[in-house]
Amino acid sequence: MTEAAVHGLLVWAMFALAALTFAALFLVTAPYGRHSRAGWGPEVSARLAWVLMESPAVLAFLAVFLLGAQRSATVPLVLAGLWLLHYLQRTFVYPFRIRSAGRKMALSIAAMAFVFNLLNAYINARWVSQLGSYGVDWLLDPRFLSGAALMLIGWLINVHSDTILVRLRAPGESGYKIPRGGLYRWVSCPNYFGELLEWLGWALATWSTAGLAFAVYTAANLVPRALAHHRWYQERFDDYPAERKAVVPLVL
Ligand SMILES: NC(=O)c1ccc[n+]([C@@H]2O[C@H](COP(=O)([O-])OP(=O)(O)OC[C@H]3O[C@@H](n4cnc5c(N)ncnc54)[C@H](OP(=O)(O)O)[C@@H]3O)[C@@H](O)[C@H]2O)c1
Repeated sequence: MTEAAVHGLLVWAMFALAALTFAALFLVTAPYGRHSRAGWGPEVSARLAWVLMESPAVLAFLAVFLLGAQRSATVPLVLAGLWLLHYLQRTFVYPFRIRSAGRKMALSIAAMAFVFNLLNAYINARWVSQLGSYGVDWLLDPRFLSGAALMLIGWLINVHSDTILVRLRAPGESGYKIPRGGLYRWVSCPNYFGELLEWLGWALATWSTAGLAFAVYTAANLVPRALAHHRWYQERFDDYPAERKAVVPLVL
């Protein structure tokens, strides 16, 4: 079997994983953050868990990318730059900004995310620098331009919305407050909305089934979680803004 065929199978495996994850998350909310609960095995600090589980998205992505024949071509380098803009922030900046006051994460959850990130890094990096083919004129293609713009807008929304959450707590605090400002005016989880835009943008900018599989997986993972967060806020805060949606402004 050729590597392209194996890659294709792994991409389809990710679509299947997305369907499974979507169904499972309506039965069981992923037990981290406000939904943490006992029974998921040994735990590590949430900060360390974030660095460890996201690290393949930087390190494995870079290793696979640099093994590709098109590693020094213009478009693969631009695409890798967009990917790394997100994942350098997520892996090495975000975990040191959260005010988790000693909160833990189950090692089993971090391990699942680690394996997912390995698979995702491989299918996307290998596509961009080896299996896909992008001439320099791709940089002017409307699919690249709209995808890259969506990714950058999504990234700004994601980082800005996470920043509002982080600032709700003073150092050492661990409780929850109603977030306000930015897109919180419209939805309970604009950080997830930004993330959805980013990977939809990536799917467009790479015009690949690997990119689409990741965008679909992100939606399968984050939409049920956003609905769970939204219900959680409504149940705990009597004054929770009634007009707020869960994740997509005015829609859902
Ligand atoms: N691509 C993907 O599939 C994927 C999957 C998961 C996460 N992510 C991204 O990773 C980032 C973190 O995800 P997450 O699920 O941990 O997000 P989250 O539940 O919104 O929490 C983000 C941070 O803010 C704190 N926080 C949340 N709501 C708060 C409130 N009302 N008051 C005070 N503090 C609050 C959380 O503390 P606690 O931890 O103590 O609750 C956590 O430190 C997001 O940007 C998300 O988009 C991406």
